[in-house]
Amino acid sequence: MALLTGKKACVLGVANRWSIATAIAKALHAHGASLILTYEGDRTRGDVEKLAQELGDAPTTVADVASDDSIAALGSFVEQRFGKLDTLVHSLAFARREELAGKYFATSRSGFSLALDISAYSLVALCARLQPLFAERASVMAMTYLGSVRAVRNYNVMGVAKAALESSVRYLAEDLGELGGVRVNAISAGPIKTASARAVGDFSKILSDVAAKAPLRRNAVAEDVAGAAVFLASDLSSAVTGQVLYVDAGYNILGIV
Ligand SMILES: NC(=O)c1ccc[n+]([C@@H]2O[C@H](COP(=O)([O-])OP(=O)(O)OC[C@H]3O[C@@H](n4cnc5c(N)ncnc54)[C@H](O)[C@@H]3O)[C@@H](O)[C@H]2O)c1
Repeated sequence: MALLTGKKACVLGVANRWSIATAIAKALHAHGASLILTYEGDRTRGDVEKLAQELGDAPTTVADVASDDSIAALGSFVEQRFGKLDTLVHSLAFARREELAGKYFATSRSGFSLALDISAYSLVALCARLQPLFAERASVMAMTYLGSVRAVRNYNVMGVAKAALESSVRYLAEDLGELGGVRVNAISAGPIKTASARAVGDFSKILSDVAAKAPLRRNAVAEDVAGAAVFLASDLSSAVTGQVLYVDAGYNILGIV
């Protein structure tokens, strides 16, 4: 039997075929999960609907995490279609392009709020709304990056947002663990060429640096992340919660090389 047979998963963050969420949705489906896919708005709707068709005609709906009403509507949609939810995948983030280059101290107040709201608070708001729907031993996961714990040039306010996201993962793991054993984890992916990543200044240098130095001498790809997502969604990880799992070809362990 496939690892995720009978599991119901909601995946947020598909924008196009390069999105990490796309690889995760494909892998969850391949391992037997039923999916709901969401799109941020009309710009990404077409790509999401196309992917949904390929993945067992998965239901799709809009979910703009900047809006409490949109999150509430997603809750109703999930309740109506699935009843209970086994897996929630949060694979989204946003910061203004001008905040992803140059000096971190130049971050504007509004840019700081926006990045933390969309990239970190959204996980809290989603868990608050969806928590009554979580099945026993449900698994929640969010995508993060090394820039949360190290100063990565140009990653700037997004690193601070990822630090808040990782901390939220720990608090949510503590909150939700006693409610039927719900688990909350983060995957810290190595750099992968996606639309969001290209907004980070000098992103190609980050990619080539990691490929040259990482213990595995390559970059992680979205399919590597998807494999970890299947593990976290499955009962194989039933006692893993509050963790940040690095899927980065080992780059995070390095000192000076
Ligand atoms: N690509 C990398 O190098 C890398 C590395 C580590 C972590 N991550 C993280 O992986 C996740 C997915 O990013 P990606 O690289 O696949 O890029 P992507 O651009 O394909 O995906 C980002 C997604 O965020 C969504 N989004 C932005 N604002 C939103 C909003 N208000 N409401 C709903 N959705 C919104 C976009 O629609 C898009 O689908 C992000 O959390 C990102 O920080 C990416």
